[in-house]
Amino acid sequence: MTSTGDVAQRSSTSRTVNEVDLSRFDGQRERAAAIVMRYPEPRSALLPLLHLVQYVEGHVSREGVAFCADVLDITPAEVSAVATFYTMYKREPVGEHLVSVCTNTLCAALGGDDIYAAVRERLGGIGHEETAGEPGTTGSLTIEHAECLAACDLAPVLTVNYEFYDRQTVDSALEIIAALQRGEKPHPTRGAPLTDFRRIELLLAGFFDDPEVGGAAANAGPSADEATLRGARLAEERGWTAPPMPDAGPDRPTEATDLPGGAS
Ligand code: FES
Repeated sequence: MTSTGDVAQRSSTSRTVNEVDLSRFDGQRERAAAIVMRYPEPRSALLPLLHLVQYVEGHVSREGVAFCADVLDITPAEVSAVATFYTMYKREPVGEHLVSVCTNTLCAALGGDDIYAAVRERLGGIGHEETAGEPGTTGSLTIEHAECLAACDLAPVLTVNYEFYDRQTVDSALEIIAALQRGEKPHPTRGAPLTDFRRIELLLAGFFDDPEVGGAAANAGPSADEATLRGARLAEERGWTAPPMPDAGPDRPTEATDLPGGAS
């Protein structure tokens, strides 16, 4: 089993594992050790480590898989099994920005499909998880159609590097795309100012205060929309709460607060 000491010890040396050169990750050993230290079991650190790999590479590369395997003392096959399961881990290099258009039911019904089609067309007909422009260069964009982005009350939505642009139309979405291609960073509807895909990957690896991402203050912003909060506020004013789960244990509340319509 890998210990955090093992990870730290390897911090200063270039390594080759299974004939894969890991030297490009030499500068990340300290961060990798910090990630591993957050968990009681090293292999639990795999998800944030994969984000760290995407910060370095712009995707989960073969070298990145070997790096994770080396840090956690697990096999590359085990790393790949996880990396290929989750859609946020990309197999090809991502552009400066990742544009995700929600095409799930509600967004699709309110125009999400049209937005996705228009964005594709504007970017030369590229498809899901394909990139317009040279990955990593200014203005390069990777697009994907996304499942529900948990903002149905603000549909149709798209995200850029996981920051939200709510209540979009075809025209407003194309304006965002054009601005991104010019190298601009239009402010999201809510949340933190836009950066780029790689910096967000460092945030997702858990380095909120890292100078590379501008520090914690640079990544703060209101995350909820007023419309989303309105229902919660109404429930609070009227004393509505959810009924307990059927299998509530002895320490859980057993009395349901009265709900509208006499439900309890
Ligand atoms: S369906 Fe698009 S955010 Fe839920």
